[in-house]
Amino acid sequence: MKPEIIITAKGHAGTMATLQSEFSTHLLSEAPDRNAFLKQHAPKVRGLATFGPMAVDGKLMDALPRLEIIANFGVGVDAINLADAKRRNITVTNTPDVLNECVADTALALILNTLRRLPQSEKYLRAGHWASRGPYPLTTSLGGKVLGVLGLGRIGEAVAKRAMACGMTIRYHNRSKKDVPYPYDPDPVTLAKNSDVLLVVTPGGSGTARLVNEKVLQALGPEGYLVNIARGSVVDEPALIAALAEKRIAGAGLDVFADEPRVPEALLALDNVVLTPHIASATTDTRAAMGQLVLDNLESFFRDGRALTPV
Ligand code: 8YV
Repeated sequence: MKPEIIITAKGHAGTMATLQSEFSTHLLSEAPDRNAFLKQHAPKVRGLATFGPMAVDGKLMDALPRLEIIANFGVGVDAINLADAKRRNITVTNTPDVLNECVADTALALILNTLRRLPQSEKYLRAGHWASRGPYPLTTSLGGKVLGVLGLGRIGEAVAKRAMACGMTIRYHNRSKKDVPYPYDPDPVTLAKNSDVLLVVTPGGSGTARLVNEKVLQALGPEGYLVNIARGSVVDEPALIAALAEKRIAGAGLDVFADEPRVPEALLALDNVVLTPHIASATTDTRAAMGQLVLDNLESFFRDGRALTPV
């Protein structure tokens, strides 16, 4: 008998196909009547595979009293209420490490694109302005600049290595100091003050909500750049838009937004931003590796009661 699991919403196609062949699956997002769906499957469902931002809270867990494991496709588990899961003795897993290099590549690309304005300069060329108006205005080098990493974990370290190869120096702020060769700043404002580029790589959730606020942006200053590959919730988005519009910071590179997939018109209208649609881990290779880890976690848990990467 295959274990029964609920999949919260349609996600990565290859992973969906494997889950559907290895388990007896039920897709929550397509249920015409959510309550009836949960009631129908509750007696047998032992696992939940989660894709995307659908909230997994105590209410959903209570509706599934036999639930033992929640396997998340992604490293960020901010959509899952971990305290609620812990209280119910439900294991939660994520997909760490397999995406580090890919996400770090995207972060470096965003830093490069934001400082060197490659998308804007391409737009200039395509519009025919090169011939009519002359060379594109000068931009900013990475070499010699300071990258401040807000949230120096495994992904932050992978970005730091890449940034150093471009001649940048690294500083960081975490809740506690780490055994790393980079200078530590005691709070986000000091880090922003000491940095040319502030890179946000913290987890999401209530603990980091609007950590990058007006004060941090002010400390970053008119020559400073913000790059966010973490979660939109970590940045006070209206404050950021105002700072960008009034040139109180130089620019921003954003892969994540407060209310995805909706991106504020005011951001789209700005010329000093580079925007990507939450693609940091979105390669065929990385998504396959993430899906494999979701599957391995569920299989290992159902086989011998131990998940591979519990959070
Ligand atoms: C994915 C992510 O976009 O790992 C994360 O936390 O944000 C991304 O890798 C997301 O998990 C896909 O559902």
